[in-house]
Amino acid sequence: MATTSLLSAVSRRLDGKVVLITGGASGIGESAAKLFAHHGAKVVIADIQDNLGHSVCESIGQTNSKYVHCDVTDESQVKNAVDEAIKTYGKLDIMFNNAGIIDKSSPRITENEKAVFEHVLSVNVTGVFLGIKHAARVMIPARSGCIISTASLSSCIGGTASHAYTCAKHAVLGLTKNAAVELGQFGIRVNCVSPFGVATPMAIKYAGSSAEDLENGMSFLANLKNVTLKAEDVANAALFISSDEGRYISGHNLLIDGGFAIANPSFNMFQYPEN
Ligand SMILES: NC(=O)c1ccc[n+]([C@@H]2O[C@H](COP(=O)([O-])OP(=O)(O)OC[C@H]3O[C@@H](n4cnc5c(N)ncnc54)[C@H](O)[C@@H]3O)[C@@H](O)[C@H]2O)c1
Repeated sequence: MATTSLLSAVSRRLDGKVVLITGGASGIGESAAKLFAHHGAKVVIADIQDNLGHSVCESIGQTNSKYVHCDVTDESQVKNAVDEAIKTYGKLDIMFNNAGIIDKSSPRITENEKAVFEHVLSVNVTGVFLGIKHAARVMIPARSGCIISTASLSSCIGGTASHAYTCAKHAVLGLTKNAAVELGQFGIRVNCVSPFGVATPMAIKYAGSSAEDLENGMSFLANLKNVTLKAEDVANAALFISSDEGRYISGHNLLIDGGFAIANPSFNMFQYPEN
């Protein structure tokens, strides 16, 4: 392989791929949309924040990206977003179910509202279910594809977010495992990525603080010190899973948490006195 084509294979890890990203107008989804396009993908952004979605497409370039208004809780809109990807770019290789919300912090279950609980589940679980369903509809005949969903650290431990959010993200992991089992026979991989706290608009609003204060708070709580988790780190993990480098990874929950989920600080066994 000539040096230039080798370099291009390394630097453009999604050359010729078509990606649909829900929640691609902001935060982690925006970062993934830009990174995937940088690696050669055609990107369809599906979101409800139309102005932001269009401006992300403008920054990527109109030939490589398209914005589709899509509320992930509405099946006809999710179906339409998938069909638009096929109509515009001829296929769908990667579906990134990333859209999500969190409810206001309400630590007493006795004070949690049923309607709020159901709304969080509707976006974070039903939205992912519909994304997987309609991606599978077009990926099964193609006998290939990669589906990724953004879960969370809250997909595997309790006590890090609201009841509704924790419940929803555990459900995303369950759906990921089930869909990976069903769709593996068609060569379709299904995984999720699970970040620790990232200072995105959603997290900043939830915390009610500045991005800087949120990052400082997260660094204080983190297991891994001297690194601050950014949206780009989550996008890089999604890129790894969706590229050929991740071609045998399926049914996996890739935690991007600096080891937080496996650390139990109660015994405080390994603390160096100077730290
Ligand atoms: N930021 C964190 O700390 C963190 C940690 C773990 C997991 N996550 C998950 O990451 C994902 C992305 O969140 P983010 O932190 O980038 O927040 P964000 O608010 O910046 O981005 C979320 C995007 O989803 C879109 N969205 C919301 N409801 C929608 C709907 N009904 N239909 C379509 N789009 C909708 C929003 O418009 C927004 O563009 C979410 O699933 C979130 O739960 C975030």
